[in-house]
Amino acid sequence: MTEQPINGFHLVRHPIADLKVTALRDKNTPAPEFRRLLQELSQLVAYEALRDFEVESCRVETPLAPARGARPVRPLVLVPVLRAGLAMADGILRIFPSAAVGHIGMFRNEETLEPVSYYFRLPPGAAGAHVLLLDPMLATGNSLAAAAEKLKKEGIPRMTCACIVASRPGVERLRAAQPDMPIFGAALDEALDARGYITPGLGDAGDRIFGT
Ligand code: URA
Repeated sequence: MTEQPINGFHLVRHPIADLKVTALRDKNTPAPEFRRLLQELSQLVAYEALRDFEVESCRVETPLAPARGARPVRPLVLVPVLRAGLAMADGILRIFPSAAVGHIGMFRNEETLEPVSYYFRLPPGAAGAHVLLLDPMLATGNSLAAAAEKLKKEGIPRMTCACIVASRPGVERLRAAQPDMPIFGAALDEALDARGYITPGLGDAGDRIFGT
């Protein structure tokens, strides 16, 4: 973990987030707890990442009197990168149940570390939505850069990327590809290993979520 800031990357700083990241990193944390922690951390990261989610004022009737409320200017669409992003979407849907969900299927060619796309589906109306692009591990940045590029081509006006652990080289790569897309995460690690895994990271998030 680093304290050195990096442009365009917003590190969620909170003792509760730090405690949860520590438990996530622990190799002895079993899959059910890992999944729950990842979902809870996703809520904390989304809470910060959606600070600029636009709402407009509206009227709401309480049992006693009218009150001023807020409603979304545009819909929220969560786009998890399969498969580890699914656990993030599960967590965020609990605090934003009306969000729609699209899916991007990407896997890494383990030799070239380049992303290979195998699935892309967005809900109707996504082109006018605020999209939260989800992947717990921003490692090389190649998959997220390819995913963001696909979304950009759909004419998405507002995109924010939310991850749990990011690597510095991954943030730099993603920033170079999408300089206008803010990136939020709960931890920033300095390095990648030869296989493109974040070190110290937390291992393979998909395997740890799904117990594979
Ligand atoms: N994907 C993971 O799950 N972990 C990493 O460290 C890198 C990619």
